[in-house]
Amino acid sequence: MTPPVAVQAALHDHPIFSYPQLQSQKHYDGKAFPLVVAPPPGDEELRYNPKKVCSHLQTHRSFVQQLIHKHGIVYFRAFASKKSTAEDFATFVTDGLGLSPFPYALGNAVRRNIVGDVVFTANEAPPDRKIPFHHELAQTPLWPRWLLFYCDVPSETGGETPVVHSTAVFNRLPPSFVQSLSRHGVVYRRSMTPHDRPHSAIGRGWASTFQAATREQVEQKLKEKGYSWEWRHDEHSQGQDDGELLTEISPVLPAVMDTPSGETAFFNQLYAAWTGWRDEYNSPEECVRLGNGEVLNADDMKILEKVLGEEEVAIPWERGDFMLIDNIQAMHSRRTFTGKRVVLASLAK
Ligand code: FE2
Repeated sequence: MTPPVAVQAALHDHPIFSYPQLQSQKHYDGKAFPLVVAPPPGDEELRYNPKKVCSHLQTHRSFVQQLIHKHGIVYFRAFASKKSTAEDFATFVTDGLGLSPFPYALGNAVRRNIVGDVVFTANEAPPDRKIPFHHELAQTPLWPRWLLFYCDVPSETGGETPVVHSTAVFNRLPPSFVQSLSRHGVVYRRSMTPHDRPHSAIGRGWASTFQAATREQVEQKLKEKGYSWEWRHDEHSQGQDDGELLTEISPVLPAVMDTPSGETAFFNQLYAAWTGWRDEYNSPEECVRLGNGEVLNADDMKILEKVLGEEEVAIPWERGDFMLIDNIQAMHSRRTFTGKRVVLASLAK
């Protein structure tokens, strides 16, 4: 039976979301970044019932897809925010949004699985360590198209997730810089000892990185990734089995990427490598270079840092918030914090 005309009109007019504003939110060509969405007025059940949230996402999946393509990030606030769990978040990702999990295999960060292969801890770097802006896994040939975060426990102070629109960043960089990034791409190198060196942010050793006990096993895994490598003796080594230093060398990887709307985004791990890949075996000048072997220009990197600072929007997490990020269109980072802070992550193809 067809509903009366008045009811049809009401169904049609019923808004899918409301759109609260966020302090420091940016607008590019009239499009909010990030887009903040909350339950629409009159749909109170979405504020406390996780199952209803999941079916709302499922019903309006194609609308959410339009929003994410247009805005680059959709930040969901107040959806069953007091009651949802990590398991609910997993169903929002798979059943609600219809996304397929991307297994976390090649990264440098330490993570733990929380719900199957869908939800895991975000980078567990210590609270007093800032995580610089990056695109997830852009230093590898295999990176996820979508990245999601879910706030289980907010920090006491700090702990925001700053985000930045990568097309806006690309458009503000010197033309000579973006031209050489587009033309040459970028190569990442990292030197590692056999065993982990916990004092270093990039100190994961080759035995645990590759789950390997011998050089042959390491080389097999590097071949599978399309990487090349160098071995050399570690002169500083004291122990008997600690002398084999490995440098893994990525293939030439893209440093910029086309977006769904035909613009170009800054897309790489340059800033994180330039600011953080430094220890007794690594220096930024060695770890990240243009694909033709040239060292990055320090003045260009200073301009990049300034642009990132001016374009960033800090997401102040509240309990139950979750966020869908287009890993091509936006970069993310993490501020330092105090308190427990549990922000979980999910990667999708
Ligand atoms: Fe990340």
